[in-house]
Amino acid sequence: MNIILLGAPGAGKGTQARILVEGRGMVQLSTGDMLRAARTSGTEMGQKVAAVMDAGQLVTDEIVIGLIAEQLEKGATGGFIFDGFPRTLAQADALGDLLAAKGESLDAVVELRVDDEALVDRITGRFTCGNCGEVYHDRTKPTKVAGTCDVCGSHDLKRRADDNEDSLRQRLLEYYKKTSPLIGYYHAKGKLKVVDGLQDMAKVTADVAAALDG
Ligand code: AP5
Ligand code: MG
Repeated sequence: MNIILLGAPGAGKGTQARILVEGRGMVQLSTGDMLRAARTSGTEMGQKVAAVMDAGQLVTDEIVIGLIAEQLEKGATGGFIFDGFPRTLAQADALGDLLAAKGESLDAVVELRVDDEALVDRITGRFTCGNCGEVYHDRTKPTKVAGTCDVCGSHDLKRRADDNEDSLRQRLLEYYKKTSPLIGYYHAKGKLKVVDGLQDMAKVTADVAAALDG
């Protein structure tokens, strides 16, 4: 099963993707995570996109389509979860072509729908484990032991450079201008399922499962 998790910054795409990976053996393809990894390892592409990401703007279609094409080549028996990709109509068309070339298709697009008001708190309270990638929140999902990742025990807990109110405002603008048209695009293709992303995490997880299995 190949699915897209669609939603504004902080909607919970990464959180739900990790749960699906754990529960269904799917492979998460997060273009945001790939771009951050390229920055950390200091590749030329990583250096090129750093300022764009920190300002909350989208990097070019060419770069992210290239990243996804590379990962699709590796295959995934449990299917792929596209997290934060596609984000433009050009990316959506490219994904359709890439999957078709492999004789595959998209099974569902799950939109995690949230209210902008909730996003500031979600984004400013977020931190992640630099070792295993587990996602936390100061209030809604703190670590059990302060400063230690529950999953892998690492003390490398960090906050993202674009997780501040100014970048979030720009990320939201980009979302509404360039990404939200995908809601209509996938609705027209009969793929769209909408889940209320403002519910607590367990309820969102249950609704995502129902959307995929129902
Ligand atoms: P990306 O990394 O994809 O960021 P984003 O879309 O802004 O989304 P986030 O990762 O911020 O949010 P999320 O939905 O994953 O939420 P999470 O689960 O962490 O992209 C970053 C940048 O990279 C972009 O701005 C752009 O520059 C570039 N980029 C990436 N892909 C690109 C593309 N395709 N094209 C062009 N440029 C691209 O949850 C957030 C917080 O809320 C966490 O603290 C979590 O614990 C908490 N939380 C989650 N669910 C709940 C819940 N139900 N209740 C309470 N708290 C919750
Ligand atoms: Mg994410």
